[in-house]
Amino acid sequence: MLGRFTSIAVAAYGLVTATAAGAQRIQSGVSTKASFDYVVIGGGTAGLVVASRLAEFASVAVIEAGGLYEVDNGNASTVPYLGITMPFLAADENYTPNSLMDWDLLSTPQVAAGNRRVHYAQGKTLGGSSAINSIGYHRATKGAYKRWADLVNDQSYTFDRILPYFKRSCALTPPDPKRRNAPNATVKFDPFACGNTPDNPLQVSWSHFVDAARTWLALALPAIGQPLSSKGFNGGELKGGAWIPGTVDAKDSTRSTSKNSYLRRILEKKKAQITIYLHSRATKIVFNDSKRATGVVVSSAQGEHVISAKKEVILSAGVFLSPQLLMLSGIGPAKTLSDFSINITSDLPGVGQNLWDQIFVGVTHGISPPASGAYLVSPEQKAIALEQYNANGTGPYSTGTGYMSFEKLPAQYRTNFSPRTATLLSQFPADWPEIENVPVGFPGGAFGVTTVGALSAILQTPSSRGNVTIRSANIADAPVINLGWLTDEADGEILVAALKRVREAWASPALANITVGPELFPGSAVTSDAAILNYIKNNAASIWHASATCKMGKAGDRSAVVDSKARVFGVKGLRVVDNSIPPFSLPGHPQASVYMLAEKIADDILKGR
Ligand SMILES: Cc1cc2nc3c(=O)[nH]c(=O)nc-3n(C[C@H](O)[C@H](O)[C@H](O)COP(=O)(O)OP(=O)(O)OC[C@H]3O[C@@H](n4cnc5c(N)ncnc54)[C@H](O)[C@@H]3O)c2cc1C
Ligand SMILES: *[C@@H]1O[C@H](CO)[C@@H](O)[C@H](O)[C@H]1NC(C)=O
Ligand SMILES: *[C@@H]1O[C@H](CO)[C@@H](O)[C@H](O)[C@H]1NC(C)=O
Ligand SMILES: *[C@@H]1O[C@H](CO)[C@@H](O)[C@H](O)[C@H]1NC(C)=O
Ligand SMILES: *[C@@H]1O[C@H](CO)[C@@H](O)[C@H](O)[C@H]1NC(C)=O
Ligand SMILES: *[C@@H]1O[C@H](CO)[C@@H](O)[C@H](O)[C@H]1NC(C)=O
Ligand SMILES: *[C@@H]1O[C@H](CO)[C@@H](O)[C@H](O)[C@H]1NC(C)=O
Ligand SMILES: *[C@@H]1O[C@H](CO)[C@@H](O)[C@H](O)[C@H]1NC(C)=O
Repeated sequence: MLGRFTSIAVAAYGLVTATAAGAQRIQSGVSTKASFDYVVIGGGTAGLVVASRLAEFASVAVIEAGGLYEVDNGNASTVPYLGITMPFLAADENYTPNSLMDWDLLSTPQVAAGNRRVHYAQGKTLGGSSAINSIGYHRATKGAYKRWADLVNDQSYTFDRILPYFKRSCALTPPDPKRRNAPNATVKFDPFACGNTPDNPLQVSWSHFVDAARTWLALALPAIGQPLSSKGFNGGELKGGAWIPGTVDAKDSTRSTSKNSYLRRILEKKKAQITIYLHSRATKIVFNDSKRATGVVVSSAQGEHVISAKKEVILSAGVFLSPQLLMLSGIGPAKTLSDFSINITSDLPGVGQNLWDQIFVGVTHGISPPASGAYLVSPEQKAIALEQYNANGTGPYSTGTGYMSFEKLPAQYRTNFSPRTATLLSQFPADWPEIENVPVGFPGGAFGVTTVGALSAILQTPSSRGNVTIRSANIADAPVINLGWLTDEADGEILVAALKRVREAWASPALANITVGPELFPGSAVTSDAAILNYIKNNAASIWHASATCKMGKAGDRSAVVDSKARVFGVKGLRVVDNSIPPFSLPGHPQASVYMLAEKIADDILKGR
């Protein structure tokens, strides 16, 4: 029954344009054992890239625990503005859940961050987190990728050599001045940042609507010495500000996900051999006596069945669930495995360690220019906005990505750093920014102002490390996630300085004419370093970029989980390909690099590496 429903939904939402054969390749649940060349666990951001590329040359199964977001999330995963206002994207423990779309993961109480338990959203749907993220698209710095290359002893990770994989993943549509409503939100970009052929599936372009609030708030950052970048953020530099593009299809301003880009493309190829199992959860990877991964145990409404892999298993379950599944399959710290009576296939102490997370704090004020939400209050406004959106992808519903700005903190903000903090920061590459500043406005009725303007500071150089482990030998028990927020004092010191820097931006003449009333948060009473730190501990939130829990490293590095070709140490026929394998959290937002990485590893697999 579910199978039929899914086929109807698939047809209705145009996932498979007009081919019934395509629809049959998407099934709900697993009703029998089956065998493929490759089995990919997790049809998320990275998983669907790898699966799609392999399916042109071999048979591929994708095991995905979630369903179709078009069915489960209405327009919210399609219309950009609705995507950034989904209620379940809240870090608060008492968030409003959407269990069809999200894994409902909660952290342990964060001892150095107000003992808060943090809800950490992760997409549970075909397309994974690419269907729930905030669509910002940009690349990290040359120095960061060089650091990656050095740490894993493989110079194929330097920017010049990964650039072809970035380009292979995407097609870039320049901003359309006729449809983009904001001539004063100047876009600087490299038109050749993407491959721009039908074989470069991910759609990257600019929002057609930038609200006045953001255009004003963005002025504060050049005003304090962060000028507009002349090339944007896809060429290996993160310095100064830019109106960045997003994963959005410029044609109609719909979100571009790994599903409606990569998977759609491959399903349109009749010869491609790909089978997608929705509502199907991998519970264990199985190995033969020579420690070769030979298949995956999958649980669905139709019971438990083994899907066999003739060549390889590719694990792409994400930063929290990939380490969990490795441990349940006998790959992880020996002590943890024996605590839960799991037979050890490969003793890898690094599985679940080295969690990097970028956290942020904001300073808010009332401001006078309107935010997009102000155009979507009354039914009349919504009707107008809907007409604009449906006609040509314009208007407030097309609000997506905005402005961001990067810097290393200027000298006067560093004077209070402890010698240790200064040393830690000095170890990052010269082009690796310490702070990202993001301006954003939202309707301020609750505070008696037109708009609440927020200028945020996101920590790019976290020294705190978290970890992930298992609660039991049962996959139904969510992993234990300790984000480690602010456990290293350096992070608090840097964020205190960054918050003061944001206050400097608020005080700049650029915002004098639009600021209304006193600072809302933290508020004028919060001035001493101790008070600011206390505010940060109780209010810092994640920007959802958790990374590096199955880190890539050199052979012989006991803390590494995979080698530079993403092969899991100590076993054969198993790779991990997702945001758990970079050795650290790249500066900025990771999705562009996740797509790049998946392209790179797919190429390794196809070339027999
Ligand atoms: C709310 C939010 C906003 C973000 N905003 C941005 C942004 O604006 N820009 C940016 O660059 N990055 C952003 N990110 C980060 C980025 O989206 C992620 O880093 C990236 O999508 C991760 O890709 P992945 O392949 O590692 O995992 P995912 O895309 O999460 O894929 C994992 C998949 O595995 C499936 N799965 C897990 N366990 C199993 C199992 N046992 N069996 C079967 N299936 C399983 C999941 O359901 C999911 O589909 C954001 C992330 C979030 C959560
Ligand atoms: C959302 O979906 C409904 C159909 O359920 C449609 O009528 C509406 O126009 C869509 N778009 C927006 C922007 O809400
Ligand atoms: C930018 O242009 C928009 C649209 O004309 C306007 O509403 C907004 O106030 C402008 N912003 C600035 C900073 O001038
Ligand atoms: C494990 O599987 C591989 C690949 O199919 C095969 O070559 C090997 O002989 C198997 N080992 C055992 C012990 O069955
Ligand atoms: C662990 O290995 C032993 C010996 O090979 C086997 O008898 C047992 O069934 C295994 N346990 C599990 C949980 O797989
Ligand atoms: C887009 O559609 C709206 C609503 O129909 C219309 O007013 C506007 O002129 C169109 N813009 C362009 C560039 O076609
Ligand atoms: C995770 O880190 C904390 C310290 O922040 C430590 O107490 C705990 O033992 C670690 N857990 C695992 C599974 O490594
Ligand atoms: C603020 O408004 C005044 C009066 O309209 C104007 O003269 C001044 O240039 C404005 N300042 C800025 C920074 O926009």
